[in-house]
Amino acid sequence: MEKFAFIIHPLSIHDMAHVSPVLKFIPDSWLESALKLKKPFQVSHITGIKSPYAEAEGWFIGCPLTSKQMVELPEEFVMDRIIESGKIAQELGAKVVGLGAFTSIVGDAGITVAKNLDIAVTSGNSYTVATALEGTREAVRLMGKDLATAHVTIVGASGSIGAACTRILAREAKDITMVARHLQPLEELAQELSGSVAGKLTVSNDIKHSLKDADVVIAVTSAVDFLIEPEDLKAGAIVCDVARPRNVSREVASKRKDVLVIEGGVIKVPGNVDFHFDFGFPPQTSFACMAETMILALEKRYENFTLGRKLTIEQIDTISQLARKHDFSLAGFRNFERAVTDEEIAHIQGFVEQELAMRNI
Ligand SMILES: NC(=O)c1ccc[n+]([C@@H]2O[C@H](COP(=O)([O-])OP(=O)(O)OC[C@H]3O[C@@H](n4cnc5c(N)ncnc54)[C@H](OP(=O)(O)O)[C@@H]3O)[C@@H](O)[C@H]2O)c1
Repeated sequence: MEKFAFIIHPLSIHDMAHVSPVLKFIPDSWLESALKLKKPFQVSHITGIKSPYAEAEGWFIGCPLTSKQMVELPEEFVMDRIIESGKIAQELGAKVVGLGAFTSIVGDAGITVAKNLDIAVTSGNSYTVATALEGTREAVRLMGKDLATAHVTIVGASGSIGAACTRILAREAKDITMVARHLQPLEELAQELSGSVAGKLTVSNDIKHSLKDADVVIAVTSAVDFLIEPEDLKAGAIVCDVARPRNVSREVASKRKDVLVIEGGVIKVPGNVDFHFDFGFPPQTSFACMAETMILALEKRYENFTLGRKLTIEQIDTISQLARKHDFSLAGFRNFERAVTDEEIAHIQGFVEQELAMRNI
């Protein structure tokens, strides 16, 4: 039996209400102070993962800091907490540990964590890129569009996941707009990619303006608040929200019936997996970054697989091949805790056609 662990943390202080409803009556600042004092702990035992080639079990390890605390508290303090979480994984017998959500964003994206542990470490970002792009391509196809003629905006394009998505989409899309707060890393990436984009390659730190003409949006920033609101998007836009916490506001789903929002990286896990912990996904499914950790364990590939912010195409191809070998696959579209059906996609197309017809009257 192969063994892995995955470090999770509350995405926001409001997640604490899932732990106990009483906590919602306690002021956020008190809860945050309490979390700061709490040590990492084992959350659950994960059982029942079975591919055609191997079986695995694992553990969720809780690193009790919110996304906001992870970016605002001193980096050394946060890093110590993540390393302590990794040491619990090590003691439990895991041979590889995955870094969930902001535990792979703090500092150098896993490199320091790996240096301080005796087991392998991965951020899970390679499989996240592969599946976010697979889902986006499928959504584009279902919406009757073509990437080769599309304007794609990547929000968070200078990040680990965003830059890899940009490098790959630069060979497939017509126009690309890369967005983040700091322009210099975007300009460096634009220079590297000049010549590989069929149409225009633009950089911007103005999110709202960059979204206005986008046919396809990949949202993958490490922002702790929503960045994309209903009024920002073009009719018929396809948005893949990879970020956790989400970049797309919940209001987009309720107010924009002419826009398709999907979550990046919802993966069907082989076997009869029981996470013994509810992270808001349907049974037998996981985030892509969790899946990457499981795949490495099933493959007995106990090595630091995805670390640092520069992902390679080879890493992404390799993990995609291993995922297919071990029977992991995209689990259909979801947004805001529910499945997106084919009928809903047809409705969205209907709304877009209606709107275009109205404009032509
Ligand atoms: N769905 C999954 O399975 C999965 C798996 C792994 C990670 N994730 C999520 O993916 C997201 C990105 O992870 P990563 O490792 O790629 O992070 P990263 O390497 O730290 O990159 C973050 C990117 O976001 C930009 N950014 C941050 N705050 C912003 C803001 N307020 N406005 C605009 N841009 C902003 C950063 O550039 P600037 O600093 O210049 O703005 C950078 O381009 C996170 O939310 C993470 O939790 C999801």
